[in-house]
Amino acid sequence: MNDRFLRACRREPVDRPPLWIMRQAGRYLPEYRALRERADFLTVCRTPELAVEASLQPLRRFALDAAIVFSDILVPLAGAGVAMTFDPGPRLAAPLRTRSDIDALRTPPMAEAASFVGAAIAELSRRVTVPVLGFAGAPWTLAAYLVEGGGRDGFPAIQAMLHRDPDTLERLLGKLATIVGDHLAFQLRSGAHAVQIFDSWAGILSPADYRRFALPAVRRAIAALPERRGPVIYFAPSAHHLLEDMAAAGADVLGVCWRTGLADARRRTGGRLALQGNLAPHALLGPPASVRERARAVLEDGRGPGHIMNLGHGILPETPIEAVEALIETVHGFATNPIAHAFSGRAGSVS
Ligand code: CP3
Repeated sequence: MNDRFLRACRREPVDRPPLWIMRQAGRYLPEYRALRERADFLTVCRTPELAVEASLQPLRRFALDAAIVFSDILVPLAGAGVAMTFDPGPRLAAPLRTRSDIDALRTPPMAEAASFVGAAIAELSRRVTVPVLGFAGAPWTLAAYLVEGGGRDGFPAIQAMLHRDPDTLERLLGKLATIVGDHLAFQLRSGAHAVQIFDSWAGILSPADYRRFALPAVRRAIAALPERRGPVIYFAPSAHHLLEDMAAAGADVLGVCWRTGLADARRRTGGRLALQGNLAPHALLGPPASVRERARAVLEDGRGPGHIMNLGHGILPETPIEAVEALIETVHGFATNPIAHAFSGRAGSVS
């Protein structure tokens, strides 16, 4: 197996930084759009054969260093009985606003409620020669969608709950920590080599509220994982003001968006964690020469033990394939240590 990604997560030496792309399976690929003509989003997530196909699509085109299972952060909650649709973002039939709404949220074992995720991971790990990533939303970010009932600028409903009824919010976060810990553990048992936790909306919190609400919940989810386990990546965009606190969540790798420099993040976290990121997704809308220049700048900024090259957030649906190719070529040509690099192979990633 190509273990460059896992080595970088552990801050071990590598010939060049590993690369994967957040949302690497998705709408920028014509073959994904064709798959979605045949099945709706939740059906793809819930049908292991289709989810595996979506995960394999980017790996057939690009020599990426990790695969990610095709699912969504809301899928385990749908499995727990929360009614929702995707259009294209999640829309809940009924937001959770009161204490009794929250008490009614079930926390069934994820091995049953999201068994299809485990089946997709097991099949994917048989089909690829790169590590397979599982993932989950962080408790705070899942709570933001559950209380709002969908995505909305600033998530005013959870902000109101935080101020009006903090005990109820803490109760919800506690339940979600259980669900997230169980879902991550299930994915690791099913064959995921590493997991990523997306805290997409942590950045709307002040440092004090992050420390009181979001951090303890994500820390509990990570602490619930077995001691001998694959690496955990914790990612929150627009969270420059939370970086030091995020480093205390118990993850091995911190994902940072483009608003924070990698060398700056390394200094602020004392070099204790590996770092993942952080080319701006918009950089891939520029011509290939510009993509190469921007990608090289990120690789230089990330130099040091444990850098996983990635975008600073998910790839945009309008991204041209040529831009992704320019990114891949640049990473493949970048030697962490120029002497070791001369001896490295370039095997494909789908067997
Ligand atoms: O390739 C991969 O990275 C794996 C698949 C993946 C999806 N969603 C598929 C998807 C992953 C890792 C996610 C994570 C996710 N989902 C996050 C965290 C990352 C982030 O962007 O901050 C969030 C907040 C969600 C919730 C969600 N799901 C939104 C807001 C949307 C709509 C907007 C958008 O960005 O596409 C979705 C739908 C969704 N999830 C799609 C895909 C491919 C598009 C749905 C379609 O095919 O119509």
